Amino acid sequence: MDKSQLSSEKTELDRFAHWENVYSSKLTTEVSWFETEPTTALRLLEHMLPQGGRIIDVGGGASFLVDRLVSKGTWDITVLDISSTAIEHTKRRLGDAESNVSWICEDITETRQLRTYDVWHDRAVFHFLTNPIDRQAYLDRLNESLSSGGYFIVATFSPDGPEKCSGLPVCRYSPEELEATLGCEFRIVTSSQHNHLTPSGKTQRFTLAAFQKV
Ligand SMILES: C[S@@+](CC[C@H](N)C(=O)[O-])C[C@H]1O[C@@H](n2cnc3c(N)ncnc32)[C@H](O)[C@@H]1O
Repeated sequence: MDKSQLSSEKTELDRFAHWENVYSSKLTTEVSWFETEPTTALRLLEHMLPQGGRIIDVGGGASFLVDRLVSKGTWDITVLDISSTAIEHTKRRLGDAESNVSWICEDITETRQLRTYDVWHDRAVFHFLTNPIDRQAYLDRLNESLSSGGYFIVATFSPDGPEKCSGLPVCRYSPEELEATLGCEFRIVTSSQHNHLTPSGKTQRFTLAAFQKV
């Protein structure tokens, strides 16, 4: 095994260990990205997710988005996260309703378990991919798994947002930078800047954007 292979395996292990440690050492209501209601995502989904449509929440963590989607009962829902602790927490919260969701505990840059989706939702996950190889792996999966005409809804820190999240460096994006990163297979449908208030009272600037696969 060469040195670069060893180093990429170490990064991979570190990534799993980092997120396991976060979710096993903090309450889900204490993490900086906690929001009581995924209002912005739900507002976009009302227009973009057809009845019976297939949605994946990538890096869903302990977000309440899945609860709100399950309660409407008309969609095929998948939640993927690298942290088994986050997934177990969310399953417990949902109780019996967890059986209405497909769960994938994997790194999004590595997974082979994806199906085809009409909406790919990502709040504060893509921005952790600071390495171009990881970013390309993510984009390859997005391209392979999103149906033609499907939507990619993404929230990242904006250029005037924090440089780190959960102690990790992030890439910050404007809507135009996201558009350039996605390339010509995606057209931007809507974008906005959004202030997120963390549980400790800090304001974080986000870019929220939705793209349609052409
Ligand atoms: C900042 S949190 C956001 C959680 C959730 N989207 C929300 O809005 O509450 C980032 C989430 O992405 C997950 N994550 C980070 N890197 C990941 C990766 N490479 N593959 C899959 N999940 C990842 C983490 O475990 C964590 O749950």
